[in-house]
Amino acid sequence: MPAPRILILGATGGLGRALHRHLAAGYELASWGRADLDFEQPDTFSTKLASQKFDVLLNAAGMTSPDVCEVQPERAFLANTVAPQILAECCHARGARMIHFSTDYVFSGKTRDLWFETDETVPVNIYGRTKLAGEKAVLKASPAALVARVSWLFGPDKPSHPDNIIQRALQTDDLSAVADKISVPTSNADISGWIEQLIIRHPTTRGVLHLCNSGVASWHSWAEAALTIAARLDVPVKTTTVQPIELASLTQLKAPRPLMTVMSNARLQSVLGGEIRNWYDALEEYLVQKYQPQ
Ligand SMILES: NC(=O)c1ccc[n+]([C@@H]2O[C@H](COP(=O)([O-])OP(=O)(O)OC[C@H]3O[C@@H](n4cnc5c(N)ncnc54)[C@H](OP(=O)(O)O)[C@@H]3O)[C@@H](O)[C@H]2O)c1
Repeated sequence: MPAPRILILGATGGLGRALHRHLAAGYELASWGRADLDFEQPDTFSTKLASQKFDVLLNAAGMTSPDVCEVQPERAFLANTVAPQILAECCHARGARMIHFSTDYVFSGKTRDLWFETDETVPVNIYGRTKLAGEKAVLKASPAALVARVSWLFGPDKPSHPDNIIQRALQTDDLSAVADKISVPTSNADISGWIEQLIIRHPTTRGVLHLCNSGVASWHSWAEAALTIAARLDVPVKTTTVQPIELASLTQLKAPRPLMTVMSNARLQSVLGGEIRNWYDALEEYLVQKYQPQ
């Protein structure tokens, strides 16, 4: 069987860049950004996609800031719901498989229990509502599609919470982070490896699948973990201690956030047939590569 031809959308984003780096060596790969396919102009999709050969479409594009979505709901609906639906229709029509990335923010966050793929979805903000509508539209238009929900991404391609807290700790020892919001930090590099396996070894896996590392963290414990690892790597952080604060104290946020969105990765473990490593181990590997590259 020839290797599948892959098209990545969102190639300028954190996850899109990681997917590109992981897959570039082994596959016939095209990686498109907004300039190649603008999700706010879905009427251009069929013409633009007609000129590109692909067997698998990885959609890592979307409007990803909850606060921007909250104040620009029409644009969020186009990018997170309408565009994915049209992409799924195109994939279905040409027999391609679509893997569409979604979010833990489809859940209400109102329980400490693990969230499973089959659990009820009740998003609390526009971002979550438009992403959930996108999930449903994709699966309706293309029953062979896979909706991959991810949470709290980190990696070398775009600064995220651990990078930001380390940057701040180089300047000051007066740090705070929210302690009452929990989920699972997840490595973009790990996701890229799982996606390759899902493409090559599990071509018929469909429906909703949670793609996250194992374990649980708050923004506070994630921050302290990053600082502790950084200090061990001789990064001159001024402290490894972070003051815990409540989400409710962040009054500048425009979109409400769900509090507890820890997803179960049991289905992922069962599909791939192996243990999924803890987020802490993945974070440590990332920070070692960043601060002590070989
Ligand atoms: N980051 C997280 O912690 C997190 C958590 C849960 C779920 N997710 C999901 O994971 C996926 C990837 O997230 P990410 O962190 O890699 O996102 P990201 O870094 O914000 O990248 C988003 C990508 O989408 C593109 N994009 C945005 N609006 C567009 C438009 N109108 N037309 C075409 N492209 C557009 C961006 O292009 P530009 O560079 O031109 O803006 C960028 O390439 C998304 O589906 C997101 O909802 C992320």
